[in-house]
Parts: sequence; C-alpha cells; structure tokens
Amino acid sequence: MLKNLIDYLNKAKNENFAIGQFNFSTIDQLQGIAKASLEMSAPVICGTSTGEAQFFGMYEAVAMVKALREERGVPIFINLDHGKDIDLIKKAVDIGYDAVHFDGSELDIEDNISLAKEVVDYAKNKDVVVEGEVGKIGGSSSVHEDKLEQSTLTSMDKIVRFIKETGVDTLALDAGTVHGVYSNSPEIDFNRIEEASIKTNSFIVLHGGSGVEDEDIKEAVKKGVVKININTELRAVWRDALYKEMSDNPKQIVPYKILCASRDAVSKKTKQKIILFGSDLRQ
Ligand code: 13P
Repeated sequence: MLKNLIDYLNKAKNENFAIGQFNFSTIDQLQGIAKASLEMSAPVICGTSTGEAQFFGMYEAVAMVKALREERGVPIFINLDHGKDIDLIKKAVDIGYDAVHFDGSELDIEDNISLAKEVVDYAKNKDVVVEGEVGKIGGSSSVHEDKLEQSTLTSMDKIVRFIKETGVDTLALDAGTVHGVYSNSPEIDFNRIEEASIKTNSFIVLHGGSGVEDEDIKEAVKKGVVKININTELRAVWRDALYKEMSDNPKQIVPYKILCASRDAVSKKTKQKIILFGSDLRQ
C-alpha cells in the first residue's frame, strides 16, 4: 500500500485512472465500500457530507476507516464532503480526516479565497488534502423526476486565480454535472476538464458522478479527472436492497442478517464504478 492519499492521487494522475469517492452514512454502506476496495485492491475515498458525518459521528467514521486501512490493509481514506463551516472543517482535520473539501462556491471570490487559504494553512501541518470549489455544482444527491438544468460555468481565469492564491490540492470543477440522478444525463464540457487540469496543475474532481453515462465518465478520466464522487447511485441500491429484504422476510429481526443485502448491493455498485474508473489495481 502507498503511504498516503496524495501518493494515490499522483498514481491516478500518472496512470490515467480515477479514484472513487463513495459517500456513506451507515455501517453496512461503509462495509460494502470497504469490501469492494479490499477485493479489488482499489484505492477508495469514503465521503461524509456534513449531514452524513453528523449521523455516523466524525470520530467513529475516522476510527473505522483507519482500522480498515491500518489493521485490515484496505487502501481506504476519508474526506469531509462539501464542508461549509470552517470550525467543522478544522475539527475534521484535528480528528484525522485524510481530506477535507471546503465548499466556498456560494461566497464571493475574495471570501472564498481567503477562507480556502485558512483551511490550507491549517491542514498543511497535518498532511491533510484540501479540496476547493469555485463554480457552484448544484443539485442534491437524490433521484429526481425532472430534467436537469445546465448552469453557466465559472470563468477559467477565476479558477486559475483561486488555485494559485489558495494552494488547494484538489479542485471540484464545475464541468456540467450536478448532484443527483435526473431524467436526462448531464452534458459534460470535456475540453474544460483538460484546460483546468493543464492550467491549474491540480487534481481535478468530478462531483455529481451518479447518472453520468459510462462513456462520458471514461472520457472525463481521459481528459484528466482523477477523483469522481458517487452518492446517489449508492443510496438508491442501498434503499432498494433493504426494502426488498424486509419485504421478502417480514419476520426477520436480526440486524446482521437483514443488512447483508444492502451491504452487498453497495459493494456490487462500488465494484462496477471502480472498474469504470480504471482503479481496479489487482494484478
Ligand atoms: P451524486 O449524488 O450525483 O453521485 O454526487 C455525489 C457528490 O458529488 C458528492 O460530493
């Protein structure tokens, strides 16, 4: 196993694959992600949004991910996803998150830069990877019945300035995707991915990975995306598997028997994504 997350991000960049960030908020989801990672020797990042982190417990999430990595040999890391509150982000750094995402995309550029810099300064001493965001990536991690509205993308000059002045490691790039699954798939600006990767020399992250066509994911990776975030598709298979299990066996009350189905469904979906992203590192 490589030493840390930056080593894996560099490997992904050099070898042209992407590392999946898979969000979780329950133990069976985390077990499913870890199982996929272990069986495929694939580096994965577990993501917790603020809500997911508060439900699971930040200390508990870090302790479990570290135990999986250090005791069980799973190449697994943890990122605080879309952190907006500086105190919460600093707490994540102190507790032992491997990465934190400061989402200042709703702020004006000056405030976004100044707070992102504060996070970078705080995280640097502890070797924690920092992700920044300039243009807002909208939507929500759910299944929507309506069509997705493509929004206007931020100017590349603003993005380059943000990266230069803050020194964040990874960039959540607005490239046409939004969070969630809609009745149509997003139109991705592949040239923008390539341009951002070259001009910022940072690790490019694709948010809103659910509901994107497989061919588009492959093209995005070719153009320089090294991290792809998936939440909605995992939530959907988790929910469907749990619902089916409980409907098929209404008298079952043993949690570890009920939750095998949702754990395995999450694991299967995670494996599919790992193969698609090219991060199956089995020899
Ligand atoms: P999806 O819900 O579309 O997979 O997006 C997840 C995400 O980008 C988390 O930051």
